[in-house]
Amino acid sequence: QELQLNLEQIEKGGYDHFMLKEIHEQPSAIFDTFRGRLLSDKGIIKMSGVEDNMKRFLNADRIIIVACGTSWHAGLVAEYIFEDLARIPVEVEYASEFRYRNPVIYEKDVVIAISQSGETADTLAAIKLAKSKGAFVFGVCNVVGSTIARETDAGAYTHAGPEIGVASTKAFTTQITVLTLIALRLARAKGTISSSDYRLQLLELELIPDKVKKALESDDLVKSIAAIYKDAPNMLYLGRGFNFPVALEGALKLKEISYIHAEGYPAAEMKHGPIALIDENMPIIVIATKKGHYEKVVSNIQEIKSRKGKIIGIVTEGDEQVRALADHVIEVPESLESLSPLLTTIPLQLLSYHIALMLGRNVDQPRNLAKAVTVE
Ligand code: AGP
Repeated sequence: QELQLNLEQIEKGGYDHFMLKEIHEQPSAIFDTFRGRLLSDKGIIKMSGVEDNMKRFLNADRIIIVACGTSWHAGLVAEYIFEDLARIPVEVEYASEFRYRNPVIYEKDVVIAISQSGETADTLAAIKLAKSKGAFVFGVCNVVGSTIARETDAGAYTHAGPEIGVASTKAFTTQITVLTLIALRLARAKGTISSSDYRLQLLELELIPDKVKKALESDDLVKSIAAIYKDAPNMLYLGRGFNFPVALEGALKLKEISYIHAEGYPAAEMKHGPIALIDENMPIIVIATKKGHYEKVVSNIQEIKSRKGKIIGIVTEGDEQVRALADHVIEVPESLESLSPLLTTIPLQLLSYHIALMLGRNVDQPRNLAKAVTVE
């Protein structure tokens, strides 16, 4: 029994839970994922799965992303990145919907399947459907030799290392890292990005591990905020642009480990209904980083404030404007708008972890959930 406990402790690297360990492994997981692929001194990105299939990618009229859960949220971030940088139309599909709705799939389509486990039944079925229509399927998996990795025509692994906590954390940020590299490589090949912007993106991506480390330093502040809101019956997460998917992901993290109902929304959508939910009992997490419609998000915050909502702002370090309006602010380092999801998701992961812990939940194995959903 004693030995078993010690083994567990060693496996958790001294952290209380696998999820916390994996949250803190993100700087090295992101670094390991771009190491050997991002050669900023030469200004190149090297990914054999992309290089060997460049013609397929460049001839595609669109990219279809199929995934589930957190991987689907990474796909949504990728939609913003691919369309903004590489100007390739992207549609993101829940694999479970895609596989049954008799979708239109062309031979020229490139399908990107995102799956941490590489065993998700719905995603696997979506891949088989796409392949049966002649589409080219590219996999982004974290488990080498997994079923999806073997089923896809080509792929690129995230190098996050084993993710044990049911709630996905480092898989999400390393998936975004891989997808950003692919988008940048295609943007370069298509000439849709200037060489100076390209180099800026590469150099900034290289700084992300240290910036994630910096974002992790807000853990004590996040814990104090968790203590205030741990008994909230509901929470709203708002974001715009690249951070809209991060709002969805933050809400999913809270739901699946604390069992508190939470919902992510595009910030501007509030006035189309959800603002009716706002009163002094509703905590709202608003992602309000400096780049990306900042002034519009500030006005959304003012709308919430006038309805007495409790506001937790995820802001760029040094922000004063949101600090003056919100009940709490959690700072993340400044970065490019397209890379900000890698930073803004960190406090949301920590917030859900601490709230779940304070509520006595089984953080690593929440009720009703499996790490890989290998059945329909
Ligand atoms: C996320 O925290 C959940 N564990 C779940 O939504 C997960 O992302 C989803 O089941 C997809 O899993 P996959 O990435 O292994 O395919």
